[in-house]
Amino acid sequence: MQEREFITRVKEFDSIDELDSGQHSLMESAIEARSRAYAPYSNFYVGAAVLLEDGTVVLGNNQENVAYPSGLCAERTALFAAGANFPGKAVKKIAISAFSGDFDVNSPVYPCGACRQVMSEYEQLSKGNMEILMMGATGKVHVVEGLINILPVAFNADNLKRKK
Ligand code: THU
Repeated sequence: MQEREFITRVKEFDSIDELDSGQHSLMESAIEARSRAYAPYSNFYVGAAVLLEDGTVVLGNNQENVAYPSGLCAERTALFAAGANFPGKAVKKIAISAFSGDFDVNSPVYPCGACRQVMSEYEQLSKGNMEILMMGATGKVHVVEGLINILPVAFNADNLKRKK
């Protein structure tokens, strides 16, 4: 028996102002995107900004539905828009920000499990680590370099390789 250890590394910034200029502008885009979220049921507004290899920024936000499970998170809305409109372009970074009038959102919001799985797929397609920047409405920003930090031992495309 061997024990394997997976280490999560998170960089913590005291505020958005500590980010470098590229990160700062991507997070500003996520903040802008969250203002257009359709979240009448949760009143929890999330924005995501995806940076592609050629500098294109694709925005997304959560889109809810009266039949609750039919809605979609901001991260997947943005990533699927990137995949649909810019197929084959590597995803370099994704910034996520959330706001709510009803809840305190003063610490970084991490993506849900389903979004992590989708992020993992795009990271694999992109052949490099995806940088993930996360914040709430205000306050600290967490940055991780690669999905391995938030979804270790993921189910991935290698698991569906056909036998020769
Ligand atoms: N949500 C996101 O868009 N991204 C996350 O990372 C967490 C949750 C959305 C889903 C739903 O519309 C609302 O936030 C409350 O869960």
